[in-house]
Amino acid sequence: MKIVYKIDDVRAEVKAAKRQDKIIRFVPTMGFLHQGHISLVKIGRENSEYVVMSIFVNKLQFNDLNDFNGYPKNLERDMEMAEKGGVDLLFIPDDKEMYQNNLTTVDVGLLTDNLCGASRPGHFKGVFTVVSKLFNIVQPDVAAFGQKDIQQVVSIEKMVFDLNFPIKIIVAPIIRESDGLAMSSRNKHLNEKQRKDALALNRSLQACRKLIDSGERDVKIITDSIRSVIQEGSPDSIDYVSMVRYEDLSYIKKIEGKAVVAVAAFWGTTRLIDNMIIDKTDNGYVCIS
Ligand code: PAJ
Repeated sequence: MKIVYKIDDVRAEVKAAKRQDKIIRFVPTMGFLHQGHISLVKIGRENSEYVVMSIFVNKLQFNDLNDFNGYPKNLERDMEMAEKGGVDLLFIPDDKEMYQNNLTTVDVGLLTDNLCGASRPGHFKGVFTVVSKLFNIVQPDVAAFGQKDIQQVVSIEKMVFDLNFPIKIIVAPIIRESDGLAMSSRNKHLNEKQRKDALALNRSLQACRKLIDSGERDVKIITDSIRSVIQEGSPDSIDYVSMVRYEDLSYIKKIEGKAVVAVAAFWGTTRLIDNMIIDKTDNGYVCIS
């Protein structure tokens, strides 16, 4: 694995890989890697792929400066994990390399008004701006994102379509700890009790799955039940419990097609999210979490 810090060096390495007919896969991250990140390197990988991973804690997408300053870091461990995970090129730019100025931003309308967008103003604009820049720097053929951040990946799919990026987006399943907690760099901020209580998030999705399996389609009934399961985990607050259409993330009242149930809650100052895709198949609904 090669490690580079400068945009010009990324371009040179990727150019050389393309000359060898490699397919370029890109995995953008903010570091403090876990197996969720590594799954994006591996999922469906073909031999001919050259994998570029970036680690950049993007200040532009943090609406809370304390969250930015406290974002966990361990570059040495990240380098080891990336290398073991099969990354070919690790790009670790600093703020100066990424932001010569902040005059141009990218936004995706409508999709970011609800769910996390509602409680984190400006967050998604920061994400789309940095992802667009990284796409232009790396120029990958495919880029992998996690279902874990469902609003992010659905909006990035739209952005890629709208702005004609010639990039295929892979949506990878949520990787969980053995007890069901979705892996997240922010889990590190939880104390032992909060970590245990936060399992209520995944339990609430399992309760939702049961209701859907039993034929329930009414969103109010389902979200009320999800809320009461999350409450059992004594969160400091519930940010949202929402059901939306997969295609445009608009709120629904009844499950009628492909949908997403998404939850966010605080334990202490740590905000955790989780979700489940409810997909309509010929044999009824399938829940993917
Ligand atoms: P970060 O939170 O580091 O996540 C990087 C990628 O890993 C995202 O695509 C995210 O959805 C995925 N991921 C996180 N936890 C996961 C899990 N438990 N299972 C599977 N995939 C998981 O998301 C960002 O960084 C940033 O917004 C970024 C896209 C890098 C732009 O700055």
